[in-house]
Amino acid sequence: MTTHIHAGTALITGASSGIGAIYADRLARRGHDLILVARNRSRLEALARRISDDTGRSVEIVTADLGQAADVRRIEALLRSDASITTLVNNAGIGAAAPLLVSDVDKMQAMIELNVTALTRLTYAAAPAFVARGEGTIINIASIVAVAPEILNGVYGGSKAFVLAFTQSLQHELAGKGVRVQAVLPGATRTEFWDIAGQPVENLPQAIVMSGDDLVDAALAGLDLGEVITVPSLPDDADWKALEAARAALGPNLSRDQPAARYGVAR
Ligand SMILES: NC(=O)c1ccc[n+]([C@@H]2O[C@H](COP(=O)([O-])OP(=O)(O)OC[C@H]3O[C@@H](n4cnc5c(N)ncnc54)[C@H](OP(=O)(O)O)[C@@H]3O)[C@@H](O)[C@H]2O)c1
Repeated sequence: MTTHIHAGTALITGASSGIGAIYADRLARRGHDLILVARNRSRLEALARRISDDTGRSVEIVTADLGQAADVRRIEALLRSDASITTLVNNAGIGAAAPLLVSDVDKMQAMIELNVTALTRLTYAAAPAFVARGEGTIINIASIVAVAPEILNGVYGGSKAFVLAFTQSLQHELAGKGVRVQAVLPGATRTEFWDIAGQPVENLPQAIVMSGDDLVDAALAGLDLGEVITVPSLPDDADWKALEAARAALGPNLSRDQPAARYGVAR
């Protein structure tokens, strides 16, 4: 399908496979030109060719290792200087299934650099440019482990909790300035993520595994509905609203001049 709407350029990280490659396809069909970022050049080239043949959109590829500071800086510069970019999809990420006692801390740090540091720096590059233009969309791919960190590796869960909290803060700061933000919390999704994380997806109960196509289509439907947090699997969004209401209810008591009575610190 070829579309003639021009929706601006979407820069998608981790676009060479899985969820990012599907975002690339869907956003091109929605009328976006694309800048696809990942390490694997031949995969990016093949995807770019297919998408531009299918949709007629312009698709540029930029190879970068977002675990490397210099490469992240190159993408930041692109986000600052290319005024056609209207959408940033912070999707590149890696996970792990191993518990702390058998995990290599250097690998944990590398995960934080990709899942947290690169995402943060790219957002810091895009947000001021979007605010200056009065429009833009930032989609951050978190995970359900953001609210269920006991499921997989704890650093992975912590990194995705960061993405969720950071997105909530972005919404608070940027919504009034014309910038749309969304955190997407996929559950288990059938991609290469699981091989890299050391737990083949075939070993999971298939009733909890979603296809990448369904995941991205639901996430984009959530964006269209104006959701800030999208949990594609969650049947009843009242459950998420209840969590948010519980969080809001804590608000007035989270900071006080006295410790709670149960601690017995009487003055
Ligand atoms: N699959 C799931 O069950 C699941 C569930 C919840 C959340 N997620 C999140 O979804 C996002 C996408 O994962 P996926 O499931 O689509 O897995 P995937 O198929 O393994 O895709 C990961 C993408 O990130 C890129 N990437 C990895 N390391 C990179 C680096 N150092 N620099 C630049 N790009 C890098 C990979 O490309 P190159 O190798 O070419 O660099 C690839 O395009 C991740 O943030 C993941 O945490 C996945």
